[in-house]
Amino acid sequence: MLLSFKHFLSLLSIAQTARAASAHEWQKRSIYQVLTDRFARDGGDNTPCDTGKKQYCGGTWRAMIDRLDYIQGMGFDAVWISPIVENIEDDTDYGQAYHGYWTKDFYKLNPHFGTEKDLMDLSKALHDRNMFLMVDVVVNHVGAATDPPDYTSYNPFNSRSQYHPQCWVQDYTNQTEVEVCWLGDSKVSLVDVNTEDEGVVRELNSWIGELVKKYDVDGIRIDTLKHVRKDFWPEFAKSAGVWTVGEVLSDNVTYTADWSRVIDAVLDYPTWFQLTSAFKATNGSVASLAGVVTQAQHTFDGGEACTGSFLENHDQPRFASLTKDMALIKNAMAWPFINDGVPILYYGQEQGYEGAGDPDNRESLWNVNYDTSHPLVSHVTTLNKARKAAIAHNDGFVKTPVKFIQQPDPNAALAVSKPPFLTLLTNVGSKGSTTWQIGGTFAAPVIGELVDVFTCRGYRTSEDGHLKVESEGGMPMVMLEKGALDRDGSICPEVFYGSGAAATMARRPGGMGVLAASACLLLLTSWV
Ligand SMILES: *[C@@H]1O[C@H](CO)[C@@H](O)[C@H](O)[C@H]1NC(C)=O
Ligand SMILES: *[C@@H]1O[C@H](CO)[C@@H](O)[C@H](O)[C@H]1NC(C)=O
Ligand SMILES: *[C@@H]1O[C@H](CO)[C@@H](O)[C@H](O)[C@H]1NC(C)=O
Repeated sequence: MLLSFKHFLSLLSIAQTARAASAHEWQKRSIYQVLTDRFARDGGDNTPCDTGKKQYCGGTWRAMIDRLDYIQGMGFDAVWISPIVENIEDDTDYGQAYHGYWTKDFYKLNPHFGTEKDLMDLSKALHDRNMFLMVDVVVNHVGAATDPPDYTSYNPFNSRSQYHPQCWVQDYTNQTEVEVCWLGDSKVSLVDVNTEDEGVVRELNSWIGELVKKYDVDGIRIDTLKHVRKDFWPEFAKSAGVWTVGEVLSDNVTYTADWSRVIDAVLDYPTWFQLTSAFKATNGSVASLAGVVTQAQHTFDGGEACTGSFLENHDQPRFASLTKDMALIKNAMAWPFINDGVPILYYGQEQGYEGAGDPDNRESLWNVNYDTSHPLVSHVTTLNKARKAAIAHNDGFVKTPVKFIQQPDPNAALAVSKPPFLTLLTNVGSKGSTTWQIGGTFAAPVIGELVDVFTCRGYRTSEDGHLKVESEGGMPMVMLEKGALDRDGSICPEVFYGSGAAATMARRPGGMGVLAASACLLLLTSWV
């Protein structure tokens, strides 16, 4: 059958729409966040970046292309890169603009990171691997190292009237001030773009549409979302035409929720605050994590589904700077992968990086040579595999809100149900212990066999759905219904595939090697 030219064009436009990744497609993804300057460098020089100097360290988009195996090998299928546009070149009291958040020219690329061709090639290399590209964008401000700024040096906003008059944001409870005053200080000011000016708004909308098309971007992360009036954003997001997720730095669910209504999603900062405090020490409370998540599920537009779920980013101290207890670290790292949001991992966490606040948390990755033998690389790889298996097994997985199953020790034990996941987390640490109990007056999320994806041990509930599990070394357990494993032989293959299993088990400490592979699923069965 011959297609008319018009029909052909409409098919083409359907194909293009399909490429513009929707929120629903992003929900199934897993994002790796990189600071381009610190992730990969051309050539063989592995000298670590001296983060304290706050200077460019040489990372490029071209070098990133050569390291996509490393990212994809851990199971990530999207990469969030730091801002791409040209920044001010000054050597300021706060260093250089290697992070990319001090815009100078919206229409030029930052030459430190490469050329237009390099960025297009990165985009293509990602798409060839069926991975998504997310670009970080800043519209709230440009950067200035002089006070007053030289307005004529910016493009396209080169006149003073295109910026708000200078005043500093001091009172964060005054939303007008948050929106119209400036961030930064007189050493480096973040000159506040006048997003009330119609000409400026038109320009920004056309700029983002062009940028997304030119580099075939699949999603954008929006910096300082709460510093621009809410009704600016819907049209901007529409002009972008791809998934938008914004930064609202706040621990307040109600406040953050207002921003979840103007673009596709927010980064889940309210949960991050509780996640960090729940797991950074053995005296924290996992109950407050459950509390904030439940509140956000009922308050954010679309609930927690689609929020960006993270444990680290470039603005906050790395989690391993707060505790060295590997059990606590592994529990906290598991959270973004088992909840309703889209998991985001900040580069370097998988290598156990411990940098505290900015600039220490912006280490280079080349000096560890993209080592895949680090235990946290395995940890995150398993988490990604488990999430993918859960998505493949249950069509409704991404849309099913997590439920918390009340625990005897609510401050130390967290049981989270999101079928086919049953996740058991604890903050008792490597020297402590606790018991999780499922069932009783609480609906059993699953009846039957479950497999912990980290140890490959099997558990079986009683016929009425009771299960009692003792913690071991304070480690998290991410259990999948046994049926969910079948579709993905990459998790716990020994559970299903005979003899190799015995060999794998014999290598594990704890004398488990004496058990036959077929007994694995029945190990530690608890009947309550
Ligand atoms: C809030 O900030 C704006 C802008 O700085 C200012 O004009 C206004 O007086 C402030 N409102 C209050 C209640 O302080
Ligand atoms: C949280 O934000 C809401 C809405 O902006 C505000 O009314 C409330 O006072 C805030 N709560 C706290 C504890 O700051
Ligand atoms: C937990 O312990 C630390 C140090 O041991 C202490 O500084 C902190 O206040 C404690 N937190 C709580 C909630 O008790």
